[in-house]
Amino acid sequence: MLSALLSSAPPPLVLFLLFIVVLLVLFSRWSGQEAKHQNSSGPVRGSSPVQGSGPVRGPGPVQGPGPVRGPGPVQEPVPCLPRLPVLGSLPWLGGGLPPHLLFTRLTYRYGPLFALYLGPHYTLVVNNHQHAREVLLQRGKDFAGRPDMVTTNLLTRGGKDIAFSDYSPLWRFHRRLVHNSFTLFGEGTSRLQDIVLSAVDGLCVELLSHGSRGFDPSAAITRAVTNVVCTLVFSSSYGPGDRELQEVISYNNGIVETIARGGLVDIYPWMKVFPNRSLSKLKECITVRDRLLTRKLEEHKAALGDGDPRDLLEALLKGQTGSGRGQRSHGSTEEGITDDHVLMTAAEAFGAGVETTSTTLLWILAYLLHHPEVQERVQRELGENVGGDRAVSVSDRGRLPYLDCVINEGMRIRPVSPVLIPHTAMSDSSIGGHAVRRGTRVLVNMWSIHHDPRFWDKPDLFNPDRFLDDKGQRAAPTCFLPFGAGPRVCVGESLARLELFLFLSSLLQRMSFRLPDGASPPNLQGRLGVVLQPLPYKAAVSPRPGWEGGAK
Ligand code: HEM
Repeated sequence: MLSALLSSAPPPLVLFLLFIVVLLVLFSRWSGQEAKHQNSSGPVRGSSPVQGSGPVRGPGPVQGPGPVRGPGPVQEPVPCLPRLPVLGSLPWLGGGLPPHLLFTRLTYRYGPLFALYLGPHYTLVVNNHQHAREVLLQRGKDFAGRPDMVTTNLLTRGGKDIAFSDYSPLWRFHRRLVHNSFTLFGEGTSRLQDIVLSAVDGLCVELLSHGSRGFDPSAAITRAVTNVVCTLVFSSSYGPGDRELQEVISYNNGIVETIARGGLVDIYPWMKVFPNRSLSKLKECITVRDRLLTRKLEEHKAALGDGDPRDLLEALLKGQTGSGRGQRSHGSTEEGITDDHVLMTAAEAFGAGVETTSTTLLWILAYLLHHPEVQERVQRELGENVGGDRAVSVSDRGRLPYLDCVINEGMRIRPVSPVLIPHTAMSDSSIGGHAVRRGTRVLVNMWSIHHDPRFWDKPDLFNPDRFLDDKGQRAAPTCFLPFGAGPRVCVGESLARLELFLFLSSLLQRMSFRLPDGASPPNLQGRLGVVLQPLPYKAAVSPRPGWEGGAK
C-alpha cells in the first residue's frame, strides 16, 4: 500500500490539476517566510514553498539513537525532508526504490528518526529499534491510532475491522473477542493442528505430484494456507480445483493487488471523484467477497446452537450477543459488535492471514534453495527428534530449536511487512525525546531495524544460528519484531507461528527441495505489493524415505 503511495503514477488529468494547484500555491506564497517546526511535532502552517530539511547529518552508516534525553520533550526539530505545498515531500521520494529501502537510505542523510510530508500529511519515519519500542510498546497506546484512508475505508466498511480501525473501547472489545476466538482454536487444543495438518497433507501430495520436474510452488502454498483460513473462519475445506476456493483466492488476490496499487487517493481523498481503475476493481472484488461471506454468515446464524463455537464466525456471533468468551467491556458503546464487524473480521482473516503466511513460507524455501546445508541441518534435527514414522505435531516444537531459528531468520531477513501498517498519535506524545503532536502519522521501518548492522552481524547474510545463544538455546533479540508489538501487535501471531512451524517441519520431513537442473537460484531482492514477495522461482522436490505418496 505504501509503495503505491510513493511510486504510483497519477493519471495525466490529475497531474495537470495538481500542477495548477501547485502553481497557485507557489504564487500566493512565494514571498512567505521559512516556516519552522515548533518542536518538530506536527504539520507546519504558513510555510515557504520549499522547506528546509532541518539539520542534515553527514552520510555514513545508520546512526545511533543519539544521547538519551530527559523526560521533557526536546525543542530540536526532527530532521525533515524538503517539501512543496500540496505535493509535500513526494518529489523527493521517487527514484524507484520501495519505501523500506528508500527510508533506510534516507537515514544516512537524516538520521534514524526523520519526518516527511506525504502530500499534506506530516509523517514521522522510525528506523531504529529503540524508537520503535517507544512507539509500539512504551507509549504504545499514544500511537495506537490508524490514519483514515479511502481504500481501507472501502475495504472495511469504514473501519469495522481490527487492522484499520482507530483505537476505541469498541475496537478493544472487538480485538479481544477475535484474539480469544483464535486462542480457542489454537493454544491448548488440537483443533488448529488438525486443520493445518490436513492442509499439509494435501499440499505435500500436490508438490510431490510434479515428480522431479521444476515448478513454481507459490500457487499450491497459497491454496493450502487459504484452505486453513477457510476452515478456521467458516468450517469449509476444499479439494484442489474447487470453484468456491478459486473464488476466494481470486477476490483475495484482486484486493491485494489493487490495495497495493491504490495509492494517491489515500493521500488526496478528493481524487476519488476521478475515474480510477484500481478503485473500481477493488469495489468489484469487495462485492464478490461480501456476497460469499454474507452467505456464510447467514448459514451460520441459522445453525447457531448452544455448544462451543466451531469456527471464527460462530465465535464472533456468540460474542456479539455477549454469550461467548469475550466479555463486553465497560464503555464498549451502545453500537456493540454489528454484523458488519463480524463480516469485516472474517474478511480480514483472509486479507491479513493468507498473503503474509504463504509469502513467509515462500521466502524461507527460497533461502533454503540458496543454502542446502541449512535444509540438511533441519532434516537432521527432524530425523533425530521426530523420525519419519509419524507426522510432526505441535508438541515437537520444543525439540526443534534450529527449525524455529530458520523461521525467525526468514522473517528477519525478509519481513513481509517491511514497513508496518501506519500508526497515528492519538494524543500529544514523544519519540526519542522529541515532542510529537496528536494526529501525526508514524511509519515504523522494520526493514531497517532488522538490517541494522549495530545489532545484527552481517545483516544481509542468511544465518539462522544468530537466533541461538552460546548454550544452543533459542534467543530472540529485542530488535526482532516481525509481528510488531504492543497494543497493535499482529492479532494472528500465535496462529501464524503455529502454521509456519507445522507447514515447514512437515514439508522438510517429507521431501527435499532443490534447484531444478540448470535453473539459477531464486532472486532474493523481492518486490513490494501489499507484502514483500519473492519474485517467482522454481523448485524441484524429491520424497524422503517413507513419504513417497506425500502423506500417510
Ligand atoms: C507470517 C505471518 C504474519 C506476519 C509476519 C504478520 C505481521 C503483522 C504485522 C507486522 C502487523 C502490523 C503491526 C502494527 O501495525 O504495528 C500485523 C497486524 C495484523 N495481523 Fe498479522 N501477520 C501474520 C499473520 C497473520 C494472521 C494469520 C492473521 C489472522 C488470521 C493476522 C492478522 C492481523 C491483524 C488483524 C492485524 C492488525 C492488528 C491491529 O491493528 O490491531 N496476521 N501482522
